[in-house]
Amino acid sequence: MGLNIRGRSFLTLLDYTPEEINYLLDLSAEFKRMKYAGVEHKWLTDKQIVLLFEKTSTRTRCAFEVGARDLGMGVTFLDPGSSQMGKKESLADTAKVLGRMFDGIEYRGFKQSVVEDLAKYSGVPVWNGLTDDFHPTQMLADILTVREEFGELKGRKLTFFGDARNNVANSLMVVCAKLGMHFCACAPEELMPAATLVEKCRAVAAETGAVLEFTSDVAQGARDCDVLYTDIWVSMGEPAELWEKRIRLLLPYQVNGRVMAMAKPEAIFMHCLPAFHDRETTVGEEIYQKYGLEAMEVTDEVFLGKQARQFREAENRMHTIKAVMYATLQ
Ligand code: CP
Ligand code: NVA
Repeated sequence: MGLNIRGRSFLTLLDYTPEEINYLLDLSAEFKRMKYAGVEHKWLTDKQIVLLFEKTSTRTRCAFEVGARDLGMGVTFLDPGSSQMGKKESLADTAKVLGRMFDGIEYRGFKQSVVEDLAKYSGVPVWNGLTDDFHPTQMLADILTVREEFGELKGRKLTFFGDARNNVANSLMVVCAKLGMHFCACAPEELMPAATLVEKCRAVAAETGAVLEFTSDVAQGARDCDVLYTDIWVSMGEPAELWEKRIRLLLPYQVNGRVMAMAKPEAIFMHCLPAFHDRETTVGEEIYQKYGLEAMEVTDEVFLGKQARQFREAENRMHTIKAVMYATLQ
């Protein structure tokens, strides 16, 4: 492994070459192997990291905390209620302080410019744990999962059904373009990815041989598909009033048994999670009471079915985040 990304931030995969992404995937697989074999890897015992969360999280926070502890690092968690950031202290000032105490900073929040500023002012590696625009650590877990399933990535068709201009869909388009895959956004016209990002991805695809496809036709999206991917219809930070409109727009894009049957027989289902697939959440129950829907972006038939890989994908968050921290801090 001759690549060196020490000292780099991880803000969007647009900043990383295909070789660097593959290096991180290989390293993730190696960390996963060590974890399973019970091989200790406390290689960064002299490091301290801080996790800043302006939005809620289960997987990302736990992946950073467990990954950091496995590497022997100290971890501090801050949320908006327990720090001065934003309210009494500017982001630039906060970044300058944190950069003097910590070796790395994870940030989950709203604008992409915030995570970029943190990197600019802190002077230490900053990892994007999700912004309104991108979710790059999720991508490594997703692609590791696809690689574990199918081996070769080139030419594999991954279709995102739903709000195809959200952070996860944007990032999937970027990573598929980087790795020479076939990315399909299957969504209503008004929820297609922004033209500026599509243009950037097209330029990448021209180098890697990736295919980018955009369709509002579910049958076309599912045709020859290896990975059917979906995400929540209203993302964190978006107003709850959007639910009604999104349900109307996106119900035809729900991933259910009928849609799975249109894809390749060996296709898998993936979801970054959390998912609304039943009524076992307060929001899920509210939506049921209001609109009579038992499930939203994915039905239980798929979510609990043989082709579902979302929990393996969730586990892979930890192995891949560990790889990003190690590679940038070592
Ligand atoms: N997929 C994901 O980022 O999950 P959390 O919101 O729980 O971190
Ligand atoms: N698009 C979702 C992803 C959650 C992991 C959100 O931003 O809420």
